[in-house]
Amino acid sequence: MARKKFLMGNWKMNHTIAEAVRFCEDVKNDSLLKIARSKGVILGVAPSYLSLYQVKRHAHGLIVASQDCHYEESGAYTSSVSCGMLEEIGVNWSIIGHSERRTYDNETSFVCNRKIHTLLKHGFHAIYCVGETLKEYEQGLTKDVVKEQVLVGLMNVSKEDIGKIVIAYEPVWSIGTGKNASAEIAEDVCGYIRGLLEELYGKVTASKILILYGGSVKPNNIHDYLLQADVDGALVGGASLKSESFKELLENI
Ligand code: PGA
Repeated sequence: MARKKFLMGNWKMNHTIAEAVRFCEDVKNDSLLKIARSKGVILGVAPSYLSLYQVKRHAHGLIVASQDCHYEESGAYTSSVSCGMLEEIGVNWSIIGHSERRTYDNETSFVCNRKIHTLLKHGFHAIYCVGETLKEYEQGLTKDVVKEQVLVGLMNVSKEDIGKIVIAYEPVWSIGTGKNASAEIAEDVCGYIRGLLEELYGKVTASKILILYGGSVKPNNIHDYLLQADVDGALVGGASLKSESFKELLENI
């Protein structure tokens, strides 16, 4: 069975609550969900923690994800948000291991693994991000880095649970830089990731897992990525902020 396509906007530290709600209203007025359904595309956004509740209320039909979560259930972790808190407002998706968290908050794949297990315990879906830095890319280490991130991040994730995980390959050097990786590079690495998943979970299970590309995806290049056999969608930052651009991304899939 063909895998669905997935377009996910990562808003990072952008949009006030009012702006986020306006985006949701635009999505409704522009019938984006109808367009998405007709194209077999799953649509989602990841707003700031502060906007999640309102976006969840105004964005019926959109997947609403947090940009992170803590691996503990509660406790003395200033500034953090737990799965239980997200669950309370109906959010059951979370991005994990985004490179900005790995870079600015020293988040390791071990920490990502703990978070993924907590999410799975709560029945959440996770979008687990992997990808190499520019230095690693230049040294030809892309696949070594991605392999370590996949193996450690998914450690002890069962075959039953892996269906709840989406993998996002985002080369760090392409995020927010305008230097997107070519569709060939994206396919090479996403195909490699699918091969790793086959080794871990078998061919049939791996063939059902969604793998996204992310990094400077724009309305004018999304089509090329989505043509690739192992690229099932895109995790988009900058170009997902305005509803018009989000619509163009969707239309060009
Ligand atoms: P970008 O961000 O589309 O702005 O490059 C992608 C991401 O960080 O997920």
